[in-house]
Amino acid sequence: ISLDDVRTENPAKDDNGLTFRALGQARQPAAHDYAADPLRPQFHYTPYQGWINDPNGLVQFGGRHHLFSQFYPDAPKWGPMHWAHADSPDAVHWRELPVALKPPPPATPADASGIFSGSAVDDDGMLTVAYTRFTDTAAHPGATPETVEIATSKDGVNFAPYDGNPVIAEPPPGSAAGFRDPYLFRDPTDDRWKLAVGSGDGGKGKIHLYASDDLKDWSYSGVLAGGDGTDGAMWECPALFRLGGKWVLLTSVNEGGKSVQQYAVGTYDGQKFTAEKRGVLDGGGDTYAGQVYADDRGRQLMTAWMSDWSAKEPTRVNGWAGAQTVTRELFLRRDGGLGARPVAEVAKLAKGDPVRVGAKTVTGDWRIGRGDTARLQAGIDLKRTGADVVKVRLHASPAEATELRYEKSSGTLTLDTTRSGYGTRDTYTTHAEPDADGVLRLDILVDRSSVEVFTGDGATLTARVYPRYAESTGVEFAATGGSLRLTGAKLTPLGSSWS
Ligand code: FRU
Repeated sequence: ISLDDVRTENPAKDDNGLTFRALGQARQPAAHDYAADPLRPQFHYTPYQGWINDPNGLVQFGGRHHLFSQFYPDAPKWGPMHWAHADSPDAVHWRELPVALKPPPPATPADASGIFSGSAVDDDGMLTVAYTRFTDTAAHPGATPETVEIATSKDGVNFAPYDGNPVIAEPPPGSAAGFRDPYLFRDPTDDRWKLAVGSGDGGKGKIHLYASDDLKDWSYSGVLAGGDGTDGAMWECPALFRLGGKWVLLTSVNEGGKSVQQYAVGTYDGQKFTAEKRGVLDGGGDTYAGQVYADDRGRQLMTAWMSDWSAKEPTRVNGWAGAQTVTRELFLRRDGGLGARPVAEVAKLAKGDPVRVGAKTVTGDWRIGRGDTARLQAGIDLKRTGADVVKVRLHASPAEATELRYEKSSGTLTLDTTRSGYGTRDTYTTHAEPDADGVLRLDILVDRSSVEVFTGDGATLTARVYPRYAESTGVEFAATGGSLRLTGAKLTPLGSSWS
């Protein structure tokens, strides 16, 4: 892309008043280039330039993990969507591949038509993706705005759209509020291909279900699941999968300036999903549009967009915006809800000597070490902790910090970004229980502009944070009104996801 294209097709300033930095030529990401950008996460997928949102097409194909992203290469803001593409041998180290799907040439300068979110399956050695073809009706009056198309690839790199597209030419009646984000899966109840499509109608979120034997010819089987209006008017980015003897339906809702991933754990009979337990996956401000795939070890893995539609995205001044979470393994929590932990392969990112401490009593503030690309694993022995509130500070300096607080009496875990630096300032809460031995286990991934918190029982809090100062790399524990008893802690420096 040329700079002239960027300047004529995009305003110099974005909606938040930030000035877009001039963009260079598209190129392969390299660890040393990324290391020079103080706001760029080092072990998370980010676009080399431009904008990304939802992860798409997650699949293990030919042994490699594939990650596609909603992508606009020309400026660090949402625009006509492409599918960026990366793959990985281990779900934590990435290699950029050519853009997999591109939008049609625009009919007018403002034409936002593009390739919206979708998913992938391995159809006996043929990588098949299903996606929403979005047509901007302002530029194409009378067009159907959202249809389902498929494309295939033998080599996992080059994709050919199917000649017979669209495979679903229009939404079923009564789905005016949206018809997008097809999720492909092999249904074990009848051994057929299924497609779940996000929708909404009359202020109530809804998921439509289709069935096929060849991934091309689809028949409508009805509404898979629907909400009552209190849980979103439009359910985006569905994922339906088996976990621990149950079925889980994950959907994303973006309303009133808030974006959440909501889940339901329940049963599925081949046509209808029935919820038994509902909740929010990740209480933080910055996960959305998570997609789930089973790997060859039978794990259900998820990557989500590590941002949301209300995010300030200060990295735009550096020519890019958006990141994907680390790959997470999903599991059922002790209370039957949906939980997550970092995929075990995150351990392969370790680089350099960890700081290890054994059992230790902390009173006041105590710094274990420094790191802005690091993993902190710690056990807090709640039975031997006098303080009601224990704290962990990340990206900490005297001027700022991102603070995690656990209140023993209520089990409330709070992530406070009100003193984090640039970006969204807020407090996020979730509920976490200690493990059976009374120890609250924390596993925290700190990258240059993100914090991902996981507890032993599967609670998660994720937030993008943008420290202002180079000194804000402290990792500290603190206790108020009593002591904090650590069973042990380990701070491991992590390296880059890129070679
Ligand atoms: C979710 C979403 C999807 C859509 C895509 C467009 O974040 O709105 O529903 O397919 O983003 O980029």
